[in-house]
Amino acid sequence: MRKKGIVIAIDGPVGSGKSTTAREVARRLGYLYLDTGAMYRALGLGLLRAGISPDEGETAVRMAREARIDLRLHPRGQQTLLDGEDVSGAIRTAEASDAASRVAAHPEVREVLVGLQQEIGRDGGIVLEGRDTGTVVFPDAELKIFLVADVAERARRRFLEMAGEAGDFSTLIEQIRARDARDEATQLKMGEWPTADAVRLDTTGLSLEEQVDRVVRLALERGGGSVPEGGRGEGPV
Ligand code: DC
Repeated sequence: MRKKGIVIAIDGPVGSGKSTTAREVARRLGYLYLDTGAMYRALGLGLLRAGISPDEGETAVRMAREARIDLRLHPRGQQTLLDGEDVSGAIRTAEASDAASRVAAHPEVREVLVGLQQEIGRDGGIVLEGRDTGTVVFPDAELKIFLVADVAERARRRFLEMAGEAGDFSTLIEQIRARDARDEATQLKMGEWPTADAVRLDTTGLSLEEQVDRVVRLALERGGGSVPEGGRGEGPV
């Protein structure tokens, strides 16, 4: 039987270019791209809309089991649907972001969403983005990438991305440092990541294209070149 491609797990701190890199690597290989954070965000949004606090563990788990979080996966990106409604934009607000991080703190919620992610990636040929994708979701992923870049470079990228809405550059650096510290604390609680078998790729001074090239080359070295005709990823999962 023809192999459908490997599992690639990508993570990195804010501003490391992980989303863009993961999406582009998936596109180049004809793989699925799965943004696992979007699932936590959709669930957080669902709770907010229902007037339920994301800190209420039991309700959050029930909603994780009952809500229809549908993902339309394409090599070019991901559309996130909650009970049939496209919430791809709505999950990007600061409120949804906050709700997502709260909802992600319940172990039973994680169990449900991790189960869905494993189901989606079961056949390989997938790039997963998210912090536990190389440890809990797919500990046997053939390729694990942890992108790093120095804080000034990451702040510069974020600054350009936010096109004038970022405010003061030194404040932005401080914000990134604070978020790094918070994320590191969460990671410590969730276990060792990046794991010893993850490739740390320093993207400081690399263009997006160079960064993607390196990951694609590693994927090919690890047997990631073979995908079904026309690539993977159309329609709902
Ligand atoms: O990557 P992101 O900002 O879209 O993630 C949203 C929230 O979900 C963030 O607080 C981290 C959490 N998350 C998680 O706990 N596990 C994942 N695999 C992905 C995201």
